Amino acid sequence: KYLLELGVTEECKKLIMSLPTEKGWVANHLHQYQGFWHTTRQLQAVLACQRHFQAQDTDIFLITTPKSGTTWLKAIVFALMNRFQYPNTHTHHHPLLSENPHVLVPFLELGLYIDGQVGDFTTFTSPRLFGTHLPFVSLPDTVKNSTCKLVYMCRNPKDTFVSLWHFTNKLRTNGTNSLEETFDKFTRGVSLYGPFWDHVLGYWKQSLENPERVLFLKYEEMKEQPKVQVLKLAEFLGRPFSLEEEIDGILKLCSFENLSNLEVNKTGKLASGEDYNTFFRRGDVGDGKNHLSPQMIKKFDQITQQKLHGYGLKF
Ligand code: A3P
Repeated sequence: KYLLELGVTEECKKLIMSLPTEKGWVANHLHQYQGFWHTTRQLQAVLACQRHFQAQDTDIFLITTPKSGTTWLKAIVFALMNRFQYPNTHTHHHPLLSENPHVLVPFLELGLYIDGQVGDFTTFTSPRLFGTHLPFVSLPDTVKNSTCKLVYMCRNPKDTFVSLWHFTNKLRTNGTNSLEETFDKFTRGVSLYGPFWDHVLGYWKQSLENPERVLFLKYEEMKEQPKVQVLKLAEFLGRPFSLEEEIDGILKLCSFENLSNLEVNKTGKLASGEDYNTFFRRGDVGDGKNHLSPQMIKKFDQITQQKLHGYGLKF
């Protein structure tokens, strides 16, 4: 019945019947497809972009799990790539001052292919910038087979989880999810685009195998040494900086304080329904431990050690 209500295609309906399904955090259901969990609406869009999206070798993908700093990364890369067109990061002409980063760098599956859309690329100029939360395994084949660049940003699982818990509770219309119940789901891997650890590991391995194609960044390192990370990012994208002041301007423009206080981000809303202000909460490192019990922290650390340490990835 709910599939009918959502206007799900026959193809997607058939697929869903064959997939493991669990109760979602916001939407009613999550389905496990290619090893990762998606809402029904999202799954239909994932199938559409896998089938229809045509990558170009010059495309740039900004990839994250939800709440790992997507909005920040989109803002920084947009400003970095467009800095010749918009050199003055402090004037009111800069697009980031009047538009949300998710509009300037749209999501593939959550934007361009959501709700039956077929991807409108008419307004894009080359190199095209896209955001996605897709795990590596689910990227459209044309992306995997092209030479386009993938920038992955991850964030430590405790902060990501707490951020996601707050975010999904804001989006819910009937009551909040308890921290305990949501923790149980997240640590079992049942979360948006989860399992979190598998998502991170997929791109970590790619970054080791193909460092010229995949750049792996950490939210915490971006916070700690933003200049170093942005220099690295610019080199990777083939747009190195010659003037340090340029980086300062970009970092200031894209800072949590600046973006979250802009009128557009206080009052606007995405076409897919989310208020822009839900993408800005605290923007700190370490908030996870303000919410999690010592047992929860222990469990997070155990899973991270078990799943990631062997590959040389630590948080
Ligand atoms: P918190 O909930 O911990 O504050 P995403 O952009 O992937 O949805 O992630 C949202 C998280 O990034 C939120 O974390 C949000 O506050 C934080 N964030 C948003 N904009 C940021 C910025 N410009 N700098 C640093 N963090 C930012």
